[in-house]
Amino acid sequence: MKWPARRMATQANKSFGMYEAAARLEAEGADIIHLEVGRPSEDTPVHIKEAAKQALDDGIVHYGDLQGTGTLRKALADKLRRDNCLTFGADEILITTGLTQASFAAFMAGIDHGDEVIVLDPYYPQHNSKIALVGGQVVTVRMSAGNGFRPDPAVLEAAITERSKMLVLINPGNPAGTVLTREELEAIADIATRHDLIVLSDEVYELIVYDDHEHISIASLPGMSERTITLGAFTKAYSMDGWRMGYAAAKPEFIQQMQLVTLNSTTHPCVFAQEGALAAIVGPQEPMLAMVAEDRRRRDLTVERLNAMPGISCRSPQGGIYAFPDFSSLSMSSEALVTGILEEAHVALESGSFYGESGQGHLRVCFGSEPYARVAEAMDRLERYVSRFASARKTS
Ligand SMILES: Cc1ncc(COP(=O)(O)O)c(C=O)c1O
Repeated sequence: MKWPARRMATQANKSFGMYEAAARLEAEGADIIHLEVGRPSEDTPVHIKEAAKQALDDGIVHYGDLQGTGTLRKALADKLRRDNCLTFGADEILITTGLTQASFAAFMAGIDHGDEVIVLDPYYPQHNSKIALVGGQVVTVRMSAGNGFRPDPAVLEAAITERSKMLVLINPGNPAGTVLTREELEAIADIATRHDLIVLSDEVYELIVYDDHEHISIASLPGMSERTITLGAFTKAYSMDGWRMGYAAAKPEFIQQMQLVTLNSTTHPCVFAQEGALAAIVGPQEPMLAMVAEDRRRRDLTVERLNAMPGISCRSPQGGIYAFPDFSSLSMSSEALVTGILEEAHVALESGSFYGESGQGHLRVCFGSEPYARVAEAMDRLERYVSRFASARKTS
């Protein structure tokens, strides 16, 4: 029997590679601090859990609406109007099993074999794997560390060919923590309109924005709701990663195509988890805001401590839960560095190169995945590791 070979990009399969390496050391008794996986450290707020428990007690355990429950879609339509200046009706929203299923359905629905999809580098590798899996061609557009990994419209436009079909944005960004300004979004919207591209806008970190930065949904710009698939999730800000609750908002023709993918893969998302998601958006926002405030505290600590280490520089992320420090002065590949730090300092991080060629010389530090004191301890360990490394270089 010859099993069919799928166009599986190997990168996504590696996304838990660091986690597994760390788990092996842990099994041998090492005290590992996990700053690799983008998983919030907090528990899900109590009122959200209570809503899901109540749903179970109320017998909400059977098949439900294929597009997602009407009440949740209506609540999301209200939220998108209020917070994102987007006017989608409940029929233009699809509830999905995490943002992961929403992006997969969007790529499945929007890409034909050989179509090119433009992805800004550094990127989120899971997008690339899905594009490859559905037969699309990933075209990476490198952003430069020098300008804080912000998109350059001229470089972006130069990558467009007659096969270009879609452009992927992550705003706020993972891994570089960039929140796109209105001017940047307008320039991207102009390119997308002139070249008739679909824009996939991954806004999973929309609620985790710091200082005076503002999250703007590109679909709210004139003419953009026609060509944009806006993706969101409850995953990060509400600390609901294991619940697998996400959504897509787009024109009904596109939502219907995406629903063919979701209904043929999972029928619909878990019904009682949807009741928890409903409580997340219509219930009190204070617990979520407190978690974001804690993210800000951990961000400030991480950035300050990293910048104080010899040879390391780190911009303050504008949003999200990752710092992306530049370690290139240590003259070691990101992969070697991340392995050394794990084995010797017992801090698990991700190599910047995992997120694309532009990320070489960088490390991704998830400051949101451990409590403040553990992040501080991780910084102590990193500092010891880096100082030892720096002094060894001086004496050699
Ligand atoms: C940019 C980005 N998109 C999507 C996801 C996955 O979201 P979900 O867990 O809701 O599927 C993540 C998770 O880290 C992410 O960073």
